[in-house]
Amino acid sequence: MSYNFGDRIALVTGGGGGIGRSCCEILAREGARVVVTDVTLKTAKETLTLLPRQDKHMAFALDVTKKKNIDEVYQSIKTHYGTPPSLLVNCAGILTEIPLLELNEGSWDLMVDINLKGSFLMTQEFARCLLESGKDVKAAVVNISSMAARGVPKWVHYSASKGGVTSLTKGCAAELASKGIRVNCVSPGPINTNLVVYQGKQRREEKEKIVPLGREGRPEEVAEVIVFLLSERSSYVVGASIDVSGGHRM
Ligand SMILES: NC(=O)c1ccc[n+]([C@@H]2O[C@H](COP(=O)([O-])OP(=O)(O)OC[C@H]3O[C@@H](n4cnc5c(N)ncnc54)[C@H](O)[C@@H]3O)[C@@H](O)[C@H]2O)c1
Repeated sequence: MSYNFGDRIALVTGGGGGIGRSCCEILAREGARVVVTDVTLKTAKETLTLLPRQDKHMAFALDVTKKKNIDEVYQSIKTHYGTPPSLLVNCAGILTEIPLLELNEGSWDLMVDINLKGSFLMTQEFARCLLESGKDVKAAVVNISSMAARGVPKWVHYSASKGGVTSLTKGCAAELASKGIRVNCVSPGPINTNLVVYQGKQRREEKEKIVPLGREGRPEEVAEVIVFLLSERSSYVVGASIDVSGGHRM
């Protein structure tokens, strides 16, 4: 399937991680110029080395909780390419497991800052740059929520942050659709990435048994849906949350 992104600029946060890296690979395969970002520059650069036509793409260190860092990256993109990105994937995220009664404000704030506030800050600046460019805007944003938004013990802060991402998606979608920016999200179930490694082999195998499809998902199975939502093939999809979960928690 060819989406023909025709040199459009795609900015991916968390691009050194499992799902983010897959997004970068598919976007590059489909012709986009990819700006790979991650809080760790090393992993962003590793992703860059996997992309075809590396000279088209860029890698930056970007902490999505730092407004100044975000502004600098958008400015660098505009300087380098002469235009802001028109595709955005908010893939940066963390997961920690803490019982409610032991959850302190620091752990809550960190989770919400990265998973929720980061997507807000990135989307706000994305829209600002595009709308200030004075050009006809045709753009798309995809956020990453989670099936865990429905509530998981010891993941209260994670569930809340991801529920927030779904609501953030719908609010931004309602406000930005008339301005040419479609905003959607995906809700993955258990996906085989570093995020879930801490759970160990046995626990992950137990979880697989309750997934109707009987296995964890692969990062590229989420990334394919994300890239579809970025593309014109989904031109009438606005404010949607698409489960990519093998049927888990449906
Ligand atoms: N793997 C799963 O089972 C699963 C399920 C549902 C949702 N998700 C979501 O998918 C997204 C991608 O996760 P993944 O599974 O690829 O995990 P991952 O750990 O492989 O990737 C997450 C990436 O986010 C980066 N990151 C962390 N803090 C950051 C910050 N402050 N600024 C910028 N980048 C930061 C990490 O360095 C990492 O590269 C996350 O939002 C996660 O919550 C994952």
